[in-house]
Amino acid sequence: MTKESFIDADGQQIEIAHYDIEFQNVDFSYGEGKERRQVLHNVNLKIPEHTVTAIVGPSGSGKSTICNLIARFYDADSGSVRVGGHDVKEFTCDSLLSNISMVFQNVYLFHDTVRNNICFGKPDATEAEMVEAAKKACCHEFIMALPEGYDTVIGEGGGSLSGGEKQRISIARAILKDAPIIILDEATASVDPENEHLIQAAISELTKGKTIVTIAHRLATIEQADQILVVDDGQIIQRGTHRELVAVPGKYKDFVDIRSQSEGWKIG
Ligand SMILES: Nc1ncnc2c1ncn2[C@@H]1O[C@H](COP(=O)(O)OP(=O)(O)OP(=O)(O)O)[C@@H](O)[C@H]1O
Ligand SMILES: [Mg+2]
Repeated sequence: MTKESFIDADGQQIEIAHYDIEFQNVDFSYGEGKERRQVLHNVNLKIPEHTVTAIVGPSGSGKSTICNLIARFYDADSGSVRVGGHDVKEFTCDSLLSNISMVFQNVYLFHDTVRNNICFGKPDATEAEMVEAAKKACCHEFIMALPEGYDTVIGEGGGSLSGGEKQRISIARAILKDAPIIILDEATASVDPENEHLIQAAISELTKGKTIVTIAHRLATIEQADQILVVDDGQIIQRGTHRELVAVPGKYKDFVDIRSQSEGWKIG
């Protein structure tokens, strides 16, 4: 039996009525046997639908792991991860993932045409819908400049495209899929300012009106979130808005002080 059919064995086709996300007492470990290591410790969180939640914290603290559990790439050891009021284990993979678009830290594109890469989340999309998504994601121009436009085959893993271009294609894919929940695991690696600007423009098209979970690194994005969750060593140690969290001593304030120096940014 494949892993997918195994996971789907008890799954149901669930149409959810809302898009709140919730973790209840979630513990999680990677690995088996001697390699096993617990990386999330009793995580509780609530992400109300149609809001923006930013997850911040040091490298290795568990931010991407939290996102992986929402999409059920792994199962919690104990506790419950819930989407729309249902434990993620109740869904089939397809019915859970139909609600979620993920834009990853390391973008993976298929060795296939640009067109098929964009249409992956909505195979029956029309040409006009696909081009519209590419335009919104600031991709159309560079795609038209490729040797065969949308029919150009992308090299394995994205080959000849820049990191920023690959990321924008993955955003075009997510825009076309139009899922209600968007998970953004932003790259820490700095792209050039022009790319940065285009990626931010693409992301703001993608996230309009959605439920957003973002592992953001830019203060400007974090500051605007409805809720910030500060993760440290697999635990949520602070939560609140930017305004609330900079008003108290703690990891978040330290993080902002360091970041604002490096970004030449002042706390308003
Ligand atoms: N597939 C995996 N197998 C085993 N351990 C893993 C795996 N993925 C992550 N880890 C470990 O789990 C911990 C949390 O990792 P995670 O990727 O969630 O951190 P992060 O907060 O997203 O870090 P970063 O800011 O560097 O992306 C780390 O100690 C990491 O080494
Ligand atoms: Mg990460």
